[in-house]
Amino acid sequence: MATSQTIGTQEPRIACQTVARAREVPSLTDDVEHGLLTPPRFLPPKYFYDEYGSKLFDKICETAEYYVTRTEDALLKDCAESIIDQAAPDDILELGSGTSRKTRRLLDACEGLGFCPTYSPYDISPETLQQTALDLVDEYDWLEINILIGDYEAGLRHLPKSDGRRLFCFLGSTIGNFEQEKAIAFLREIRSRMNPDDLLLLGADRVKDDDVLHAAYNDSQGLTAAFNLNVLKVLNEEVESDFDLSQFEHRAEFNADRSRIEMRLVALSDQTVVIGALDTSLRVRAGETILTEISRKFTDESLSGMLNMAGFSTAAHFTPANKYFSLVLARPQAA
Ligand code: SAH
Ligand code: TRP
Repeated sequence: MATSQTIGTQEPRIACQTVARAREVPSLTDDVEHGLLTPPRFLPPKYFYDEYGSKLFDKICETAEYYVTRTEDALLKDCAESIIDQAAPDDILELGSGTSRKTRRLLDACEGLGFCPTYSPYDISPETLQQTALDLVDEYDWLEINILIGDYEAGLRHLPKSDGRRLFCFLGSTIGNFEQEKAIAFLREIRSRMNPDDLLLLGADRVKDDDVLHAAYNDSQGLTAAFNLNVLKVLNEEVESDFDLSQFEHRAEFNADRSRIEMRLVALSDQTVVIGALDTSLRVRAGETILTEISRKFTDESLSGMLNMAGFSTAAHFTPANKYFSLVLARPQAA
């Protein structure tokens, strides 16, 4: 079961829980063994988000090229009142909340409409959660926060239950970082935790001009490149490997056939990398790649198809004039 402990004694409005795993998930060592040792090489994206990686991601969100955050934020600003009005939440539970940057739009709408829900941000990065919670209680004097620390891929069964109505949020197009089957399975799992009156707010990035997409994942300051390469530093620390970050290069391309950005690390030379924790080494040839992230881009059809297959129906769909992004408010269909 979930263990519960309160942090920040001077902050009685912040509680903190570690969410127990509902099932075993591969360890980083397992993922390296299964994904990295033989081509096609790949790594799951969750390892990007150590403390440094989380800070880099936050900076990516502010670049001129990365339209995703700005677009979703502006859209949320416009439709937050409508969302809160329909959801009438007693709790807002957000998956992969990060710095909760955009969630503030929902909290502002709560204030405006006289709702006073609790906020339950769920993330794998404890440092980000704790700093964000301190900032939020400062900004919203009515807000009570229940920090949930854990890996949402390990299942949602041990999420604390809510007595009232809950608004689940999954923003930032993080759903696009899952392959289709995994995305459907994950949305189904969210649905299984929902009461009939609960709603899901899903943020999803949309197909658009190739150049706009390409620039968003190849920012001119090199922050996305640094973010991508940082995963090798995480490996060096966690599996005692000796990746030389200067011998790899960031590559992000739009694969139009699969409607997704594919982000890779490309080896710049032939090299042998020791992986101490596995007592083995890895031979990589110049030009070989490691797939580190996919970011799927949706159409109306692919988005509603995915939601339908996961057992949701659309209550409202918000998109800006340029159609860059979608926010879908979805309700669980009866089982
Ligand atoms: N929702 C925010 C952050 C998106 S970045 C936004 O829209 O800007 C993705 C977030 O998900 C990061 O904060 C990362 O720490 C978190 N995350 C990634 N994999 C996770 C996992 N398996 N379990 C829980 N959180 C995860
Ligand atoms: N969910 C974000 C997206 O797909 C994650 C992201 C943005 C990201 N930029 C990135 C992941 C760069 C890895 C690298 O847009």
